[in-house]
Amino acid sequence: MTSLLCLSTPSDAHRWSDERRRDGQSIGLVPTMGALHRGHTALIERSQALCNLTVVSIFVNPTQFDRSDDFDLYPRTLDDDIALCDSLGVNAVYTPTVDAMYPDGFDTTIDPGSLTYRWEGEHRPGHFAGVATVVTKLLTAVQPHIAVFGEKDFQQLAVIQHVVRDLGLPVTVVGEPTVREGDGLAMSSRNVHLAPGARAQATSIKHAIDRALDRSTSTGSPSDIVEQVTTDIQQAGGTVDYVAVVDRLSLEPVADLNNNTQLLVAAWFGGVRLIDNAALVATE
Ligand code: PAF
Repeated sequence: MTSLLCLSTPSDAHRWSDERRRDGQSIGLVPTMGALHRGHTALIERSQALCNLTVVSIFVNPTQFDRSDDFDLYPRTLDDDIALCDSLGVNAVYTPTVDAMYPDGFDTTIDPGSLTYRWEGEHRPGHFAGVATVVTKLLTAVQPHIAVFGEKDFQQLAVIQHVVRDLGLPVTVVGEPTVREGDGLAMSSRNVHLAPGARAQATSIKHAIDRALDRSTSTGSPSDIVEQVTTDIQQAGGTVDYVAVVDRLSLEPVADLNNNTQLLVAAWFGGVRLIDNAALVATE
């Protein structure tokens, strides 16, 4: 049994936050969909380093899934997640139900605009409207001073920063670097779905990224890099959704590397879709 405070409705979260803010406490929010792993631990520790109090929200948000099978199969490990939060000294978890988040008649969606036209937005229609809407609702309920998101979901982080800026939400968005397994695979709640063969193949994403980061390769053009990364992943048995070299702010493809370029990758391994990214810096 845990003694960790569990907030389950937006008004509970709002009231808790109001009281803590009146006491002069600073609040950090780590929004998650549960199935917590070491990547989430890093987000929680970052929040704890920046704020007196940390809230972890755990909500598998149905509106951001473009495929119902992905939603149905998304790993749900609530008891373990709460125990982990407790052991890490989290101050409260916010675990609203779908009905509490989307009561009858709920009909408002935030459309985050042009940053979502490509990449994840193109391959997962409606995904970012779902993310933007749920994150805005989580921020409104918990009223944190900061909110911490993983850089693994690079486009998501950019979209959330954009929404927060455009709507003037009073929160600072913090990005935390990707945490990786020993063999380089980026930590993701979906990794548990990888069968052993696909799990081995999936390390090709990081190998391909490392090759792109390699001095000899990153002197190449973005189109060379896209071709190399795509080929490396395909040869390992992956199916590529996209590989792109983009401007870090606009997320538009670039013709030349500069100090503001990011490599984005999405690929399937044995029916599991993985994403990853890395900063690419032009070498002299
Ligand atoms: O990155 C996630 O886990 C989700 O997209 C988020 C930000 C918690 C919104 O549901």
